[in-house]
Amino acid sequence: MSDPNVPLLSDLHDQLDAATKRGRAAGELDSALGDQAVLVFGTPPRAASLSDPTDRRAFLARAGALSLAIPGIGAALTACGPQQGSRDTAKPKEHDEEEHAERAQTAPHRNSDSKLDSAVLRDRQHHGSSATRDATQGAQGAVYRRYDPTLPPRAGSRVQLHWHARDTPVRISDDTVVAGWTFEGDIPGPIVHCRVGDTIEFTLTNDAVVPHSMDFHAAQIDPKVAFRSVPQGQSVSYTFKPKWAGVFMYHCGTAPVLMHIGSGMFGAIVVSPAEPLSAAKEFVLVQSEMYLAEAANGVRAFDYQKMLQTTPDMVVFNGRPNQYVKDPIRVKVGDRVRFWVADAGPTHPCQFHVVGEQFDTVYLGSPPANSIRGVQTFSVPAGGGMCFELLCDIAGEFPFVNHGFGHGQKGAIGFLDVEP
Ligand code: CU
Ligand code: CU
Repeated sequence: MSDPNVPLLSDLHDQLDAATKRGRAAGELDSALGDQAVLVFGTPPRAASLSDPTDRRAFLARAGALSLAIPGIGAALTACGPQQGSRDTAKPKEHDEEEHAERAQTAPHRNSDSKLDSAVLRDRQHHGSSATRDATQGAQGAVYRRYDPTLPPRAGSRVQLHWHARDTPVRISDDTVVAGWTFEGDIPGPIVHCRVGDTIEFTLTNDAVVPHSMDFHAAQIDPKVAFRSVPQGQSVSYTFKPKWAGVFMYHCGTAPVLMHIGSGMFGAIVVSPAEPLSAAKEFVLVQSEMYLAEAANGVRAFDYQKMLQTTPDMVVFNGRPNQYVKDPIRVKVGDRVRFWVADAGPTHPCQFHVVGEQFDTVYLGSPPANSIRGVQTFSVPAGGGMCFELLCDIAGEFPFVNHGFGHGQKGAIGFLDVEP
C-alpha cells in the first residue's frame, strides 16, 4: 500500500507546472510546494561551514608551494604565447616543492598550467571568487535563456572553432545571476558535434583578466603544449582528430582547475561513430555543480572555498537549475531518444535515471561497442561521459534525474515529455 504522506512524482509535476505557469522563480517554487516537495524539489540547504582550517591552511600552503605564482601575469606568460611553438622548458617534475617555492619567489614562471596555481586566490581583488569586473557588470540586464539540449548537426569533416574565454554575468533562473567565467559567453560553452576522424582546428583567444586554457578530453595531444594557459589578449591554437566516439568533456585546465571548471568553463563535444547509430532524437546534458557566494549587487559569484567543501548549492543540467522542468524536452511516441550525458563536476557524479522508463542500451565506452542492455540507472563520473538510449513506446511525462537525490533535488532534474 502506498503511503498517503509520500508525494508522487506526478503530483509534484502538476504542482510545479502550475507554479511555473504563475511565473514563479525556482527558489519560490520550493516554498510553494512545501515540505512534501523534499523528495525532488527541496530548497538547497546552506553550505556547511568551512572545514577544519588546519586542512585548509595545509592545502593552501601546498598550493602556494607548488604554484607558479605570477606577480605580473601577462609578462610571465608571454613566454608561452601562441607564437612560441616550442615546448615549455620548465621541468617541474624534477624539482621538489622547496625548489618550487624558491623559484616562485625569485623568478617569473612560464606557465600557470599543470600545478596548483594559487594566483587567483592571492588576488585580493577576487578573494577566491569569480567576481571580476566583467563577470559582474550589467548583471541586472542579463536575460534568462533556456540552454538548447538538442545535438546540433555535424558541421563537416573539418571543424573550425575560434572561441573566446570571456567573463560575463549569466542568468540561470528568474532570480539568480552568476558571475561566469565562460567559453563564448554561456555556461556550459557551445555543444560541438563531429565524427570519429574529423579534424578539429581549435583556437582559444582569452578576453578575460585571468589566464585561461582549453583541455578537450576528445583529443590525444601533448597537454603541456596544446592545453597551455594564455594571458589576456593572447591565443592558443591546436588541431586534433578524435579517435573514439562518445561524449567528451572539455574544460579550462588552468590551475586551480577546480576554480575554472567551478566558475563555468566547461562543455561537451559529441563524437559520433564512423558507422552511424540508429536514427534517434539526440540530446546533450552536461551536469555541473554550482557553489555560490551570497548575492552582491544582484550577482552571485562562484566561491572557491565552497568548491573545496564539495557541498554544492545547486546541481544542474546545462547550467540552469530545473530548466527542463519549466520547459521540457519534447519527443513523440515511437521516437528513439539518445541522451549524451557528460558530467563536468567539478567533483560529483551523475547517477542518470529516467523515472518510468528504462534504457534499452547504455554505452559505457565508445558506441556502438561497450553496450549494456536493460539499465535503470548508471553513474557518469565527474570528467566522464556516456550515451543512454531508450525507445519511447508509451506517452507520458518522464522525469530524468540525477538519482543521487541529494543532488537531484538541487536542480539536476528535467522532464522528457513523450507526446502521442
Ligand atoms: Cu580558465
Ligand atoms: Cu579534464
